[in-house]
Amino acid sequence: MADRTRVGVLISGRGSNMMALATAALEPDCPYEVVMVASDKPDAAGLDWARSHDLPTFALSPRGLGKPAYEAAIDSALRDAGVEVVALAGYMRLLSDTFVAAWRDRIVNIHPSLLPKYKGLDTHARAIAAKDTVGGCSVHLVTEELDGGAVLGQAEVPIRPGDDADSLANRVLAAELALYPKTLAAFVTR
Ligand code: GRF
Repeated sequence: MADRTRVGVLISGRGSNMMALATAALEPDCPYEVVMVASDKPDAAGLDWARSHDLPTFALSPRGLGKPAYEAAIDSALRDAGVEVVALAGYMRLLSDTFVAAWRDRIVNIHPSLLPKYKGLDTHARAIAAKDTVGGCSVHLVTEELDGGAVLGQAEVPIRPGDDADSLANRVLAAELALYPKTLAAFVTR
């Protein structure tokens, strides 16, 4: 098999998008492999799943370290693992311009809205408050502008009468878990 692109996934929490990426990578024709799961939260639930699936993990809290030293350590861990593309998956920390520049055009993120709508937080509540009837998720390149990089793929879901932020988040998450692996696969073979 041709060499597969080495992907490092950054998470902060339960890691369901990371699980979807790693599970898709088990398919022999998947063009990427997940070679590391890293987190800014040493107790992130997703890390347990990664460990139990024999994925190398790296966990480091920035607390007390400061952002430059924390990011330098993440950067080193990714490079030591031979990571070529960084996939953010529920990673709840802003990357510095320095980190973004060091990995220019090699960081992707999944965001729970149809960008350019609803950058930032509370996307589902904002979509409902705006009386949108369609929501969704986007995979995009990460640049210095929050949720502002080129969109690589999107999936839509209906917003139904009676939806609240949680019910919409669940519907969007199901779309995320399908969209992210397929979009990452297309990105690494672009
Ligand atoms: C996802 O909805 C993602 O789009 C958002 O945070 C959530 C993370 O979920 N940024 P998980 O950690 O991948 O389960």
